[in-house]
Amino acid sequence: MSSCHKAYITTPIYYVNDIAHIGHAYTTIIADTLARYSRMIGLDTFFLTGTDEHGQKIEESAKARGKSPQEYADEISATFKNLWDDFGISYDKFIRTTDVDHMKGVQKAFKVMYDNGDIYKDVYKGHYCISCETFFPEIQLVDGEFCPECGKPTTVVEEESYFFKLSKYQDRLLAWYDAHPECILPRSKRNEVIRFVEGGLEDLSITRTSFDWGVKLPAELNDPKHVMYVWLDALMNYVTALGYGTDEAKMDFWPARVHLIGKDILRFHAIYWPAFLMSLGLEMPKHIAAHGWWTRDGEKMSKSKGNVINPKEVADAYGLDNFRYFMLREVPFGGDGDFSQKALIDRINSDLGNDLGNLLNRLIGMSGKYFEGRVDASNVTKYYQTELDEVEASLDKLEPLLFEMQIHRYLEELWRPLTVANKAIDKYQPWTLMKEGKEEEAMALNGLIATILAKVSVMLYPVMPQVCPKIASALGFTIDNASWEKLIKNKRLIEAFTIEKIPPLFPRIEEPLLEQGKPADTKEEAKKAPVKKEEKKEEGVALIGIDQFFQTSLKVGTVVKAEEVPKSKKLLLLQVDLGEEKPRQIVAGIKEWYSADDMLDTQVCVVANLKPAKLMGYTSEGMLLAAKDEDGLCMIRPEKPKKPGTPIG
Ligand code: MSP
Repeated sequence: MSSCHKAYITTPIYYVNDIAHIGHAYTTIIADTLARYSRMIGLDTFFLTGTDEHGQKIEESAKARGKSPQEYADEISATFKNLWDDFGISYDKFIRTTDVDHMKGVQKAFKVMYDNGDIYKDVYKGHYCISCETFFPEIQLVDGEFCPECGKPTTVVEEESYFFKLSKYQDRLLAWYDAHPECILPRSKRNEVIRFVEGGLEDLSITRTSFDWGVKLPAELNDPKHVMYVWLDALMNYVTALGYGTDEAKMDFWPARVHLIGKDILRFHAIYWPAFLMSLGLEMPKHIAAHGWWTRDGEKMSKSKGNVINPKEVADAYGLDNFRYFMLREVPFGGDGDFSQKALIDRINSDLGNDLGNLLNRLIGMSGKYFEGRVDASNVTKYYQTELDEVEASLDKLEPLLFEMQIHRYLEELWRPLTVANKAIDKYQPWTLMKEGKEEEAMALNGLIATILAKVSVMLYPVMPQVCPKIASALGFTIDNASWEKLIKNKRLIEAFTIEKIPPLFPRIEEPLLEQGKPADTKEEAKKAPVKKEEKKEEGVALIGIDQFFQTSLKVGTVVKAEEVPKSKKLLLLQVDLGEEKPRQIVAGIKEWYSADDMLDTQVCVVANLKPAKLMGYTSEGMLLAAKDEDGLCMIRPEKPKKPGTPIG
């Protein structure tokens, strides 16, 4: 089914519980670069992106905002699509897991796996992290409770569930990794996966009954209380987008050339997904490529710190192509990267301005001054064969680097021809050549520089799709498959042309163009409580100064009303007197240990300056202090009664 003339490239589908940030933009921009490159060299290309809209996390996020999951998913999915459209991302399909065809395809896949004996019904008992939408065996939990991936508390789940026989595929998976050294990129990540699988695979719970927002099981199974596990639903998008289970016309794009993902979701893609495919009798993807994590100024990005980078703001301020170049050049694929405006400005001024932009300006200057703008490369081989050879040697290395996801090395190598060009001007000095009456040689030098710029702009186009066509147009050609064939594949020189003067492409940037600490509303908070990278850690928690501690307002309160939150196993709804005009409403997850009656008229300790949050539709205006260990949870209370509102500290 597969054809080497086809290139199917995918991004992860993004959860709609959050709006797009730099991490999402990074994956999408890499995928866009690969898709553009594939099209340019004439591959029949299909580039897929989209949104992941089911699951408990989305259901809860929607509820917290008082919206239906569908309404909420529609809204956030549109923000992703709009951003990619704004960024000119060249996707061929934007899939949503709420698309009817996708859901039909997932049901079909479930049925196929069920019919071939890979799915059975049992009871799942274990821990679930809603934030990561992942089940964890007890042994992997931190302190027996917290998610090993994100650190949030997990919930204990005991419910009837269908299971996928993942354990059955352990040996076949290991054989696949073994036979395909490049199936997981970077290769070091493949070793991690192999070690994990060798450690033993447990069967995977693939349905849930405790919530509703998901794809139902196929009608034939007659089991309406189950919805599919969000990862089964989500991973299937890679084939349902090609029509799996509905109109299979595009299935000849399968297998994917590359699934681009972040390292945090490697296990799902490198273990579960191939096992599902094996069960479905479909081919394995060629590559699963996992990139690293972006931080900001050395810190992890999070909404609470207010340091999340909005990719649109950066692109608007610095230029979309500059931002694309920076992200792809700055970080070795697979490694973690740090975003700072300083690093971005350095890349723009140095690589783009000095090396590339100035070269074009020098060419415009030389051609204008000596040849009325004419450039003719006919005699380049006569005078500058050594330089040309050097350039071609670099260009030859590029394509494999790109398809091996060594994009930073691709760009590094692509800069060598620019160095050759800049050095050639300094060495041969067109002004001296002209003075000595060596006009032919000077024109050939012009031709060499123009040829180098042309070749570089073609190969840089996938990364900088707005700027490179401008360079090409100044050099009298258009970037497309035909010019790629001539200049790159057939290693030809640029045809004679008259250069067009264009304004500088990369004006120098002297200082940061964005205020630090965006987004604006959380800027002040971010400044107040910076947790510096180098600060010491105490049991994995950063040490803070006393001033930071005092930013938390802790107060004694009296519970004046207590009731149960309807339909919730965990939550109580409390009104707590903090000595203010009216009691605060606090939603507390303590019902497993305290009844509403237990809480009424007791005193509690309250974090009083938390931003209000919505839980199960109720606004919570504070948090109670409690201590929890294996014996359960107990409230932290003042030893003697204190006036409501008494500060703690
Ligand atoms: N919905 C799943 C993917 C399902 S694919 C079948 C999901 N979504 S996500 O929105 O949480 O994350 C999508 C991608 O963004 C992941 O590849 C993740 O690695 C990436 N990033 C999220 N934050 C990131 C950074 N700070 N830096 C780099 N990429 C990160 O997971």
